[in-house]
Amino acid sequence: MAYENILVETNGKVGIVTLNRPKALNALSAGLVRDLGAALDAFEADVNVHVIVLTGSDKAFAAGADIKEMAEKSYMDAYLEDFITKGWERVTTCRKPIIAAVAGFALGGGCEMAMMCDFIIAAQNAKFGQPEINLGTLPGAGGTQRLTRFVGKSKAMDMCLTGRMMDADEAWKCGLVSRIVPVDDLKDEVLKIAEAIADKSLPITMMVKEAVNAAYETTLAQGVRFERRLFQASFATDDQKEGMNAFIEKRQPSFTDR
Ligand code: HXC
Repeated sequence: MAYENILVETNGKVGIVTLNRPKALNALSAGLVRDLGAALDAFEADVNVHVIVLTGSDKAFAAGADIKEMAEKSYMDAYLEDFITKGWERVTTCRKPIIAAVAGFALGGGCEMAMMCDFIIAAQNAKFGQPEINLGTLPGAGGTQRLTRFVGKSKAMDMCLTGRMMDADEAWKCGLVSRIVPVDDLKDEVLKIAEAIADKSLPITMMVKEAVNAAYETTLAQGVRFERRLFQASFATDDQKEGMNAFIEKRQPSFTDR
Protein backbone atom coordinates (compact mmCIF):
# COMPACT_ATOMS: atom_id res chain seq x y z
CA MET A 1 0.00 0.00 0.00
CA ALA A 2 1.27 3.50 -0.85
CA TYR A 3 1.20 6.16 1.85
CA GLU A 4 1.49 9.92 1.51
CA ASN A 5 3.43 10.69 4.69
CA ILE A 6 5.45 7.59 5.50
CA LEU A 7 7.61 5.00 3.75
CA VAL A 8 7.03 1.37 4.59
CA GLU A 9 9.31 -1.58 3.90
CA THR A 10 10.14 -4.98 5.32
CA ASN A 11 13.60 -6.42 5.77
CA GLY A 12 13.26 -10.09 6.65
CA LYS A 13 11.11 -10.24 9.77
CA VAL A 14 11.51 -6.51 10.48
CA GLY A 15 8.87 -4.01 9.42
CA ILE A 16 10.20 -0.47 9.00
CA VAL A 17 8.14 2.72 9.02
CA THR A 18 9.99 5.89 8.04
CA LEU A 19 8.23 9.16 8.77
CA ASN A 20 8.47 11.15 5.57
CA ARG A 21 7.42 14.79 5.60
CA PRO A 22 10.91 16.25 5.10
CA LYS A 23 9.74 19.80 4.40
CA ALA A 24 8.01 19.94 7.79
CA LEU A 25 10.71 18.01 9.72
CA ASN A 26 8.25 15.11 9.93
CA ALA A 27 5.68 17.15 11.86
CA LEU A 28 3.00 14.70 12.94
CA SER A 29 -0.04 15.79 10.95
CA ALA A 30 -3.37 13.98 11.21
CA GLY A 31 -2.65 12.40 7.83
CA LEU A 32 0.74 11.12 8.95
CA VAL A 33 -0.69 9.63 12.13
CA ARG A 34 -3.45 7.98 10.07
CA ASP A 35 -0.86 6.49 7.72
CA LEU A 36 1.20 5.29 10.67
CA GLY A 37 -1.85 3.60 12.22
CA ALA A 38 -2.64 1.81 8.96
CA ALA A 39 0.98 0.66 8.56
CA LEU A 40 1.04 -0.68 12.12
CA ASP A 41 -2.26 -2.50 11.52
CA ALA A 42 -0.72 -4.17 8.47
CA PHE A 43 2.49 -5.15 10.30
CA GLU A 44 0.52 -6.51 13.26
CA ALA A 45 -1.59 -8.63 10.92
CA ASP A 46 1.48 -10.01 9.10
CA VAL A 47 2.77 -13.10 10.92
CA ASN A 48 6.08 -12.77 9.07
CA VAL A 49 6.79 -9.44 10.79
CA HIS A 50 8.21 -9.94 14.28
CA VAL A 51 9.56 -6.50 15.11
CA ILE A 52 8.75 -2.97 13.96
CA VAL A 53 11.17 -0.05 13.64
CA LEU A 54 9.87 3.51 13.62
CA THR A 55 12.31 6.09 12.31
CA GLY A 56 12.60 9.46 10.56
CA SER A 57 15.35 11.26 8.67
CA ASP A 58 18.89 12.15 9.73
CA LYS A 59 17.63 15.66 10.54
CA ALA A 60 14.40 14.85 12.34
CA PHE A 61 12.62 11.91 13.84
CA ALA A 62 9.70 14.31 14.24
CA ALA A 63 9.63 17.98 15.28
CA GLY A 64 6.30 17.55 17.03
CA ALA A 65 2.63 17.65 16.24
CA ASP A 66 1.88 19.83 13.21
CA ILE A 67 1.69 23.34 14.67
CA LYS A 68 0.21 24.80 11.47
CA GLU A 69 -2.59 22.24 11.56
CA MET A 70 -3.51 22.75 15.21
CA ALA A 71 -2.86 26.48 15.73
CA GLU A 72 -6.47 27.59 15.13
CA LYS A 73 -8.32 24.66 16.71
CA SER A 74 -10.93 25.62 19.29
CA TYR A 75 -11.37 23.78 22.56
CA MET A 76 -14.54 22.21 21.15
CA ASP A 77 -12.71 21.06 18.00
CA ALA A 78 -10.07 19.45 20.18
CA TYR A 79 -12.60 17.96 22.60
CA LEU A 80 -14.99 16.55 20.02
CA GLU A 81 -12.32 14.93 17.90
CA ASP A 82 -10.54 13.84 21.10
CA PHE A 83 -7.36 15.48 19.81
CA ILE A 84 -4.91 13.68 19.92
CA THR A 85 -6.01 10.30 21.22
CA LYS A 86 -7.07 8.86 17.89
CA GLY A 87 -4.27 7.26 15.91
CA TRP A 88 -1.48 8.10 18.31
CA GLU A 89 -2.54 5.43 20.77
CA ARG A 90 -2.17 2.87 18.00
CA VAL A 91 1.55 2.97 18.74
CA THR A 92 0.91 2.09 22.38
CA THR A 93 -1.50 -0.74 21.55
CA CYS A 94 0.96 -2.42 19.18
CA ARG A 95 1.55 -5.94 20.54
CA LYS A 96 4.78 -6.60 18.66
CA PRO A 97 8.02 -4.97 19.82
CA ILE A 98 8.48 -1.54 18.30
CA ILE A 99 11.83 0.28 18.38
CA ALA A 100 12.22 4.03 17.86
CA ALA A 101 15.36 4.89 15.87
CA VAL A 102 15.86 8.59 16.51
CA ALA A 103 18.22 10.93 14.65
CA GLY A 104 17.90 14.71 14.85
CA PHE A 105 14.91 16.36 16.46
CA ALA A 106 12.43 14.40 18.58
CA LEU A 107 10.45 17.28 19.99
CA GLY A 108 7.01 17.61 21.53
CA GLY A 109 4.81 14.94 19.98
CA GLY A 110 7.96 13.54 18.32
CA CYS A 111 9.53 12.85 21.71
CA GLU A 112 6.19 11.54 22.95
CA MET A 113 5.87 9.20 19.99
CA ALA A 114 9.40 7.88 20.51
CA MET A 115 8.53 7.24 24.16
CA MET A 116 5.39 5.32 23.11
CA CYS A 117 7.71 2.81 21.42
CA ASP A 118 9.28 0.04 23.51
CA PHE A 119 12.76 1.49 23.53
CA ILE A 120 14.74 4.22 21.85
CA ILE A 121 18.06 3.97 20.01
CA ALA A 122 19.49 7.43 19.44
CA ALA A 123 21.92 8.72 16.86
CA GLN A 124 24.66 10.98 18.21
CA ASN A 125 22.86 14.04 16.80
CA ALA A 126 19.51 13.25 18.46
CA LYS A 127 17.82 16.05 20.37
CA PHE A 128 14.88 15.39 22.65
CA GLY A 129 12.57 17.96 24.15
CA GLN A 130 9.08 18.93 25.24
CA PRO A 131 9.03 22.54 23.98
CA GLU A 132 5.22 22.94 24.08
CA ILE A 133 5.56 25.50 26.86
CA ASN A 134 7.13 27.86 24.32
CA LEU A 135 3.92 27.60 22.29
CA GLY A 136 1.67 28.40 25.22
CA THR A 137 0.56 24.83 25.72
CA LEU A 138 1.79 21.59 27.27
CA PRO A 139 2.58 18.06 26.17
CA GLY A 140 -0.63 16.29 25.12
CA ALA A 141 0.48 12.83 24.04
CA GLY A 142 1.79 11.58 27.36
CA GLY A 143 4.96 13.70 27.61
CA THR A 144 4.47 14.78 31.21
CA GLN A 145 3.70 11.19 32.20
CA ARG A 146 6.09 9.05 30.16
CA LEU A 147 9.07 11.42 30.39
CA THR A 148 8.64 11.49 34.17
CA ARG A 149 8.66 7.69 34.29
CA PHE A 150 11.74 7.53 32.04
CA VAL A 151 13.91 10.22 33.65
CA GLY A 152 12.34 11.05 37.02
CA LYS A 153 10.52 14.12 38.28
CA SER A 154 13.36 16.60 38.50
CA LYS A 155 14.58 16.28 34.93
CA ALA A 156 11.05 15.90 33.51
CA MET A 157 10.02 19.12 35.25
CA ASP A 158 13.17 20.82 33.96
CA MET A 159 12.46 19.68 30.38
CA CYS A 160 8.74 20.48 30.38
CA LEU A 161 9.02 23.82 32.21
CA THR A 162 12.01 25.23 30.32
CA GLY A 163 11.27 23.59 26.96
CA ARG A 164 15.00 23.00 26.49
CA MET A 165 16.46 20.23 24.37
CA MET A 166 18.45 17.29 25.70
CA ASP A 167 21.26 15.82 23.57
CA ALA A 168 21.81 12.11 23.02
CA ASP A 169 24.44 11.88 25.70
CA GLU A 170 22.20 13.38 28.37
CA ALA A 171 19.30 11.23 27.15
CA TRP A 172 21.45 8.11 27.52
CA LYS A 173 22.75 9.10 30.95
CA CYS A 174 19.23 9.60 32.29
CA GLY A 175 17.78 6.44 30.77
CA LEU A 176 15.61 7.95 28.06
CA VAL A 177 17.49 6.04 25.37
CA SER A 178 19.02 2.59 25.61
CA ARG A 179 21.97 3.05 23.23
CA ILE A 180 23.68 5.76 21.16
CA VAL A 181 25.17 5.06 17.74
CA PRO A 182 26.79 7.25 15.05
CA VAL A 183 24.22 8.92 12.77
CA ASP A 184 25.47 7.14 9.66
CA ASP A 185 25.15 3.76 11.38
CA LEU A 186 21.71 4.30 12.94
CA LYS A 187 19.64 2.36 10.42
CA ASP A 188 22.11 -0.56 10.21
CA GLU A 189 22.58 -0.78 13.96
CA VAL A 190 18.86 -0.64 14.69
CA LEU A 191 18.23 -3.23 12.02
CA LYS A 192 20.77 -5.52 13.68
CA ILE A 193 19.07 -5.08 17.04
CA ALA A 194 15.64 -5.65 15.48
CA GLU A 195 16.87 -8.77 13.67
CA ALA A 196 18.29 -10.17 16.90
CA ILE A 197 14.84 -9.78 18.50
CA ALA A 198 13.07 -11.04 15.37
CA ASP A 199 15.04 -14.31 15.59
CA LYS A 200 13.44 -15.12 18.94
CA SER A 201 10.00 -16.67 19.36
CA LEU A 202 7.36 -14.10 18.35
CA PRO A 203 4.81 -15.03 21.05
CA ILE A 204 7.51 -14.94 23.71
CA THR A 205 8.72 -11.48 22.64
CA MET A 206 5.10 -10.34 22.84
CA MET A 207 4.79 -11.76 26.35
CA VAL A 208 8.02 -10.04 27.42
CA LYS A 209 6.63 -6.75 26.13
CA GLU A 210 3.37 -7.26 28.00
CA ALA A 211 5.21 -8.12 31.20
CA VAL A 212 7.61 -5.16 31.09
CA ASN A 213 4.74 -2.79 30.31
CA ALA A 214 2.83 -4.13 33.31
CA ALA A 215 5.59 -2.60 35.47
CA TYR A 216 4.16 0.78 34.54
CA GLU A 217 0.55 -0.05 35.16
CA THR A 218 0.37 -2.22 38.27
CA THR A 219 1.71 -2.48 41.77
CA LEU A 220 4.91 -4.53 42.18
CA ALA A 221 2.99 -7.47 43.64
CA GLN A 222 0.45 -7.51 40.78
CA GLY A 223 3.21 -7.13 38.21
CA VAL A 224 5.25 -9.98 39.65
CA ARG A 225 2.13 -12.20 39.73
CA PHE A 226 1.35 -11.31 36.10
CA GLU A 227 4.93 -12.07 35.07
CA ARG A 228 4.82 -15.42 36.88
CA ARG A 229 1.60 -16.42 35.07
CA LEU A 230 3.15 -15.56 31.69
CA PHE A 231 6.34 -17.41 32.64
CA GLN A 232 4.27 -20.47 33.57
CA ALA A 233 2.24 -20.12 30.35
CA SER A 234 5.45 -20.14 28.31
CA PHE A 235 5.80 -23.82 29.30
CA ALA A 236 2.77 -24.50 27.10
CA THR A 237 4.65 -23.33 24.01
CA ASP A 238 6.67 -25.44 21.59
CA ASP A 239 9.28 -22.70 21.61
CA GLN A 240 10.05 -23.13 25.32
CA LYS A 241 10.64 -26.85 24.71
CA GLU A 242 12.77 -26.06 21.68
CA GLY A 243 14.75 -23.33 23.44
CA MET A 244 15.61 -25.42 26.48
CA ASN A 245 16.31 -28.60 24.51
CA ALA A 246 18.54 -26.66 22.12
CA PHE A 247 20.54 -25.42 25.11
CA ILE A 248 20.91 -28.94 26.51
CA GLU A 249 21.85 -30.34 23.08
CA LYS A 250 24.37 -27.49 22.56
CA ARG A 251 22.77 -26.20 19.34
CA GLN A 252 21.00 -23.06 18.20
CA PRO A 253 17.22 -23.12 18.77
CA SER A 254 14.88 -23.11 15.82
CA PHE A 255 11.72 -21.38 16.96
CA THR A 256 8.40 -21.96 15.20
CA ASP A 257 6.39 -19.21 16.93
CA ARG A 258 4.05 -21.78 18.45
C1 HXC B 1 4.69 22.27 11.65
C2 HXC B 1 6.97 22.49 11.48
C3 HXC B 1 7.15 21.97 12.79
C4 HXC B 1 5.97 21.58 13.50
C5 HXC B 1 9.08 22.45 11.98
N1 HXC B 1 8.20 22.77 11.02
N2 HXC B 1 8.47 21.96 13.06
N3 HXC B 1 5.76 22.63 10.93
N4 HXC B 1 4.78 21.77 12.91
N5 HXC B 1 6.04 21.03 14.72
C6 HXC B 1 8.46 23.34 9.70
C7 HXC B 1 8.86 24.79 9.79
O1 HXC B 1 7.72 25.62 9.91
C8 HXC B 1 9.58 24.97 8.49
O2 HXC B 1 8.63 25.10 7.46
C9 HXC B 1 10.29 23.63 8.29
O3 HXC B 1 9.59 22.69 9.11
C10 HXC B 1 11.74 23.66 8.73
O4 HXC B 1 11.77 24.14 10.07
P1 HXC B 1 12.75 25.32 10.54
O5 HXC B 1 12.16 25.86 11.79
O6 HXC B 1 13.02 26.26 9.43
O7 HXC B 1 14.08 24.48 10.83
P2 HXC B 1 15.23 24.80 11.85
O8 HXC B 1 15.59 26.25 11.83
O9 HXC B 1 16.29 23.81 11.55
O10 HXC B 1 14.63 24.50 13.31
C11 HXC B 1 14.28 23.20 13.65
C12 HXC B 1 13.39 23.19 14.93
C13 HXC B 1 12.18 24.14 14.71
C14 HXC B 1 14.22 23.66 16.13
C15 HXC B 1 12.96 21.76 15.16
O11 HXC B 1 11.56 23.79 13.49
C16 HXC B 1 11.16 24.03 15.79
O12 HXC B 1 11.34 24.58 16.88
N6 HXC B 1 10.04 23.38 15.49
C17 HXC B 1 8.91 23.31 16.39
C18 HXC B 1 9.20 22.35 17.52
C19 HXC B 1 8.03 22.30 18.47
O13 HXC B 1 7.67 23.29 19.10
N7 HXC B 1 7.43 21.11 18.62
C20 HXC B 1 6.31 20.90 19.48
C21 HXC B 1 5.05 21.06 18.71
S1 HXC B 1 3.63 20.97 19.74
P3 HXC B 1 8.73 26.29 6.38
O14 HXC B 1 7.46 26.11 5.59
O15 HXC B 1 8.85 27.54 7.13
O16 HXC B 1 9.98 25.93 5.61
C22 HXC B 1 3.43 19.36 20.00
C23 HXC B 1 2.28 19.03 20.90
C24 HXC B 1 2.12 17.57 21.02
O17 HXC B 1 4.12 18.52 19.53
C25 HXC B 1 0.84 17.31 21.71
C26 HXC B 1 0.22 16.07 21.26
C27 HXC B 1 0.11 15.94 19.83
